[in-house]
Amino acid sequence: MELKEVIGRRRSMRFLRPYKPVEREKIQKMLEAARLASFWGNVQALRAVVIERATAPPKVVAALPAGTAIGGFQFRMAPVVIVWTLDWSLLSVQGNRLHELVDAGALGVDLEKSHNYLDSTLIPFFSAAMDGIKQGGITELDCGQGIAQATLVAYEEGLGTCLLGCPNDRKLRRALGLPDHVKVLVLQTVGYPAEDPEGGGQRPRLPFEERFSLNSWDNPFPRDPAVVKELEAARMLCRPAPLPYRREELGFLQHQYGLAEVFGDEVPNIIQEMMTPDTESGEAK
Ligand SMILES: Cc1cc2nc3c(=O)[nH]c(=O)nc-3n(C[C@H](O)[C@H](O)[C@H](O)COP(=O)(O)O)c2cc1C
Repeated sequence: MELKEVIGRRRSMRFLRPYKPVEREKIQKMLEAARLASFWGNVQALRAVVIERATAPPKVVAALPAGTAIGGFQFRMAPVVIVWTLDWSLLSVQGNRLHELVDAGALGVDLEKSHNYLDSTLIPFFSAAMDGIKQGGITELDCGQGIAQATLVAYEEGLGTCLLGCPNDRKLRRALGLPDHVKVLVLQTVGYPAEDPEGGGQRPRLPFEERFSLNSWDNPFPRDPAVVKELEAARMLCRPAPLPYRREELGFLQHQYGLAEVFGDEVPNIIQEMMTPDTESGEAK
């Protein structure tokens, strides 16, 4: 499948087939894609723990936020959940990654001069600026690139995924044994979709001209209709949501899986769960 079509047809799939296992090879391909993503200074701070429902210890499965009203049913349905994390400890050895880039011929021209420059200037600069770098969001941004690549590969492999925030990660952190220097970024449910592949159509996006500018903030980047046509033909730009049968599809899925209305009376449970003292630590979860 062409990349443009993958980009255009991927949807967040919230309804998965709980009974259909996901082949490990496919998860590996997602992780391989994440591994190759570009990262500032080649730091590669994106790490992941894959939770495979069929093989995970019960305490790990129980630590997934499956009780929350909105995303909870997605965790209950997913054969696999990827816990995407950022390992801050890798920033302290970032200098090693830069030297590797020089050795690989990816940075600088003259090897000796480049290594010297790293040691005398660039690495000390990054060390001094590290707090600002951490707060600037660039590291999370790069993690996002890896997660995006994994998501596109999942789609190409016929899988459905959805990224979900973890409202409170303490239970999960403990169950997975995450060290303090690791931050949970987002959880990704993975499985075979129970929804129609179109997922009800391409989800709404703000108009192109409102989001992208040319040469100055208030000058919209011109959207060429011929390019739009080309991307429609390449199936990158698809029919917008909601497709005519989407309401019926959602009603069917809700009935099929015995789901309560997700935006019903249960919503305050999320808050209740976050405020409930954690039995092991005595803290709020
Ligand atoms: C980083 C990230 C976090 C997200 N977190 C949640 C979440 O906590 N709960 C949820 O229902 N959807 C979550 N989503 C899914 C978005 O709601 C979804 O991407 C959006 O509605 C657009 O739909 P699409 O992915 O099909 O294009 C998240 C998406 C991203 C990229």
